[in-house]
Amino acid sequence: MKIGIVGATGQVGGVMLDIMAKRMPDIDELRLFASPKSAGKEINWNSQTITVEDASTASYEGLDAVLFSAGGGTSKELAPKVVLDGAVVIDNSSAWRQDDGVPLVVVGANNDAIADRPKGIIANPNCTTMVAMPIMKTLHEAAGLKGMIVSSYQAVSGSGLAGVDELTTQIEGASSPTSLVTDGSSVNLGEPSTYVEPIAYNALPWAGDLVDDGLYETSEEQKLRHESRKILGIDDLMVAPTCVRIPVYTGHSLAITASFESPITPAEATSLLSQRDDVIVDNIPTPLKSAGIDESLVGRIRPSEVFENGLSMFIVGDNLRKGAALNAVQIAELVRDSL
Ligand SMILES: NC(=O)c1ccc[n+]([C@@H]2O[C@H](COP(=O)([O-])OP(=O)(O)OC[C@H]3O[C@@H](n4cnc5c(N)ncnc54)[C@H](OP(=O)(O)O)[C@@H]3O)[C@@H](O)[C@H]2O)c1
Repeated sequence: MKIGIVGATGQVGGVMLDIMAKRMPDIDELRLFASPKSAGKEINWNSQTITVEDASTASYEGLDAVLFSAGGGTSKELAPKVVLDGAVVIDNSSAWRQDDGVPLVVVGANNDAIADRPKGIIANPNCTTMVAMPIMKTLHEAAGLKGMIVSSYQAVSGSGLAGVDELTTQIEGASSPTSLVTDGSSVNLGEPSTYVEPIAYNALPWAGDLVDDGLYETSEEQKLRHESRKILGIDDLMVAPTCVRIPVYTGHSLAITASFESPITPAEATSLLSQRDDVIVDNIPTPLKSAGIDESLVGRIRPSEVFENGLSMFIVGDNLRKGAALNAVQIAELVRDSL
């Protein structure tokens, strides 16, 4: 199999390279692409030195699959050209996720969807939605998912290298941060640029941009609803999302209270989830535990008195691995197996 990565110099691209070296070391060829500013840069992968190519001028002929992780604009513009050149596109951005001709695939939740790809593109879901899907799919199969009240706690690496740099700069630049205990304006954390307010020592109930859906929701909140519906195949799934950015480097968390058609106890849910090899049941799941591992963590599973058949739980997953790079590589493996 011959594979390309567009966005190979970014965070997600770097994690893809690590994961592919472990899971697909024997591929016939790997080509790497990024913006013109990175063209010519050399990246070592699996004992080879690969020169990064300018994604906008390259030919993709001869490649079987190209994994995109370079933002929605790049995907929207380049993916059709790559498909014309003969490769299957596996796209990490939001550009194609809601397109009816593009399957939205979480490996372990809806693998069969990859077969129906009339545009030659397969979309990788949003990182927050993705980490919850293996768990919600299992609970949906057992009891029929009707709705979810979700609060997310999203890490800064979900905003690219820019988010990581902004948190680091603010933490390192803050002198006497303990004065924030009594006065939240006592430390100058600098002008935010990636985020709407300082992210260090803070929690921002504003992830993404405001969308014009009449609900006063952000793009991250809207993705959580629309992508969950498409992946789980529940057109009328009710989702009440609040997405919050927190000063954690990696690991997106979700506090979910879910309502089901039929009763399901915490013990039944725990037993079903424990049987999955992509889920770890851990009573205190945290972002630090999740960073660098492939599985989603789930814990604090308990009844909810808000719904007749309700369960509350806390889910955490590595947004760069299952939330992005790992799932994209897993889709590439499914494509390879279907060639
Ligand atoms: N971070 C996450 O948790 C996460 C999760 C799911 C999906 N995603 C998606 O993955 C993508 C990348 O995220 P990231 O965190 O890796 O961001 P990042 O660290 O900022 O990296 C961005 C990558 O895109 C490349 N790029 C930018 N403009 C380009 C252009 N015009 N043509 C070709 N390549 C271009 C960059 O190349 P240069 O180095 O040459 O600029 C770099 O390789 C985004 O679409 C994001 O929505 C991210």
